[in-house]
Amino acid sequence: MRISQRVQDLAESGTIAVSNKVAAMRAQGVDVVSLGAGEPDFDTPAHIKQAAAAALDGGETKYAKPASGVPELKQAVVDKLARENGLTYAPAQVLASVGGKEALFLAFATLIDPGDEVIIPAPYWVSYPEQVKLAGGVPVFVAAGADAGFKVTPQQLRQALTPRTRVFVFNSPSNPTGAAYSPAETDALAEVLLDTDVVTFSDEMYDRLLFGGRTFKSFAATSAHAYDHTLTFNAGSKTYSMTGWRIGYVAGPADVIQSMAKLQSQTTSGAATFTMHALAAALNGDQACVEDMRAEFERRGQFVHQRLNQIEGVVCPEPGGAFYAFPDVSDTFEAKGVAGSTAWAGRLLEEAHVGVVPGVDFGADDCVRLSFATSMEALEEALRRIEAFLA
Ligand SMILES: Cc1ncc(COP(=O)(O)O)c(C=O)c1O
Repeated sequence: MRISQRVQDLAESGTIAVSNKVAAMRAQGVDVVSLGAGEPDFDTPAHIKQAAAAALDGGETKYAKPASGVPELKQAVVDKLARENGLTYAPAQVLASVGGKEALFLAFATLIDPGDEVIIPAPYWVSYPEQVKLAGGVPVFVAAGADAGFKVTPQQLRQALTPRTRVFVFNSPSNPTGAAYSPAETDALAEVLLDTDVVTFSDEMYDRLLFGGRTFKSFAATSAHAYDHTLTFNAGSKTYSMTGWRIGYVAGPADVIQSMAKLQSQTTSGAATFTMHALAAALNGDQACVEDMRAEFERRGQFVHQRLNQIEGVVCPEPGGAFYAFPDVSDTFEAKGVAGSTAWAGRLLEEAHVGVVPGVDFGADDCVRLSFATSMEALEEALRRIEAFLA
């Protein structure tokens, strides 16, 4: 059957390709250590599961009313953003979505016209460029390598602006690099956009997973202008280990949220009702579970960072948050006889039985992504194998 050009032009997800290969090798009995996962290895905390069960028992089995989110969840999001991010929103400024990913997709489709430019710092999360292209937009990449701590500067952002710029995508802490912008760095980027109409998509999926005492500042909290020109995205996925529940949210100007809700009503009809109640319970409930997971990610991140930098030819900035390390391994390409990250990761998997994701999928072919959302034992073994592979 003929596949539409739109879908033919979409890139395959590199993360899924690695997972498939790892699964195939394991099925053949190979002992593979996979550092490919983009999700916490912890189970969803019990009180959140109980809230979902109670919602189901209480008859929350119909379409959510409204589809854009039950009032309990919208209020819980409003309270979270006020409490943790210093942001004042009304429930009408909040939309619940099928994971963070649907919210981002709806937002690009709602704001982008053909030919509009979207500035995306690279390395980037894999879905941004593909979602921009689906909306008819043009991704404009601004690169920041390991030497810059994977952070773009205000000057770079200024230089990338054109009269066609419609959206700036900001993701801190970052998937795939773990880079976390400080409040001052966030302020400085926001200042560049003060006299523009550019809309910032602030992807805050990892806002609670910060290391080394770092603090978080929402992009929308940098100024009144930024508040009026920012969509703030988050989800239960990473903070509460709810990736499989597919529940996220976005907050922003009421007219944009309303238009996104219209598009959502004609596509998915929104997230599952009982997951909305579960996320409301997560946001309103005891946050000790988040700190427990964060502290464990920090311990593992320190270990991975330290061990990677002990290996000759590997340069890895310290992850400031999330659960990824993104080492530049390009100095080892020649010795391994490879030309890029895909071949490098392929050989690591074949020869050392360690699964990592090639950086080229995130717009950085010098690097690979290691997830430390896995046990310390697995990480120790993976690092031993990577060291031996490069010896
Ligand atoms: C930066 C970033 N944004 C958005 C998402 C999407 O999250 P969800 O699983 O809630 O759709 C992810 C998940 O990997 C992510 O890492």
